[in-house]
Amino acid sequence: MKGIILSGGSGTRLRPLTSMTSKQLLPVYNRPMIYYPLNTLLRAGIKEILIIIAPDHAGNYLNLLGSGKDFGAKFTYEIQDEPRGLAEAFIIGESFLDNDSVAMILGDNIFEDDFSQEIKEFKSGGRIFAKEVEDPKRFGVVEFDQKMKALSIQEKPENPKSNFAIPGLYIFDNRVVDFAKSVEPSARGEIEITEIQQRYLDLGELDVRTFNGQWVDAGTFESLHAAGDLAKNVLDKKMMI
Ligand code: DAU
Repeated sequence: MKGIILSGGSGTRLRPLTSMTSKQLLPVYNRPMIYYPLNTLLRAGIKEILIIIAPDHAGNYLNLLGSGKDFGAKFTYEIQDEPRGLAEAFIIGESFLDNDSVAMILGDNIFEDDFSQEIKEFKSGGRIFAKEVEDPKRFGVVEFDQKMKALSIQEKPENPKSNFAIPGLYIFDNRVVDFAKSVEPSARGEIEITEIQQRYLDLGELDVRTFNGQWVDAGTFESLHAAGDLAKNVLDKKMMI
């Protein structure tokens, strides 16, 4: 299992903070934001990690994270020239992944839970997660039947079929590379990660799991503030890095 941290994008919602650095390097309490998703992968024993970054401020990532040696890991970097969608990460990462499976986490997603078991026990197909939220329209949304079997997946639906958002931690086998290559850009011009999830769902190979701990997508001022509280009150003492 290899890891990808997707840490590109332009962070427009957090301007002017993101005029001087990348969103995922902003402080979340006492650490740069990316430390939290990095910690999630390292805690699961993933040692080979591809960090995908935008061209702006790319040098800051090298200064902060370097080769990975200080973290007991090996980091590889790739530039994503334009934010063409989350699923592009698997195309950019094709040679890095070789024939391996992947756990991809978004550089602005902060989790309280330890996903080591879910990552280590993964064999094939796709595994994603679901969390009940008040504002599902902001996210990918999964609908379940009464037995909690996933029925449908939608990206930022106008009329969500459930309150279950899909957080930015995705585990896929190596078929994800070919699936990503065949996804057409959506109306907003992006290769959507939800399309990949849909492929696995259609094959009957998508495992969707709920989890108990807190999760924050730190992409807005409100959620960045909430992430700081979570980091200070809960995560600080549990972090490996
Ligand atoms: O946070 C979870 C949500 O992330 C999921 O529920 C959605 O299905 C998924 O589409 C995504 O939604 P967002 O609205 O949060 O996507 P956003 O465009 O903000 O991108 C998420 C992160 O990925 C952000 O930190 C920037 C980075 N990114 C984004 C794009 C589109 C890239 O590095 N490259 C990209 O091309």
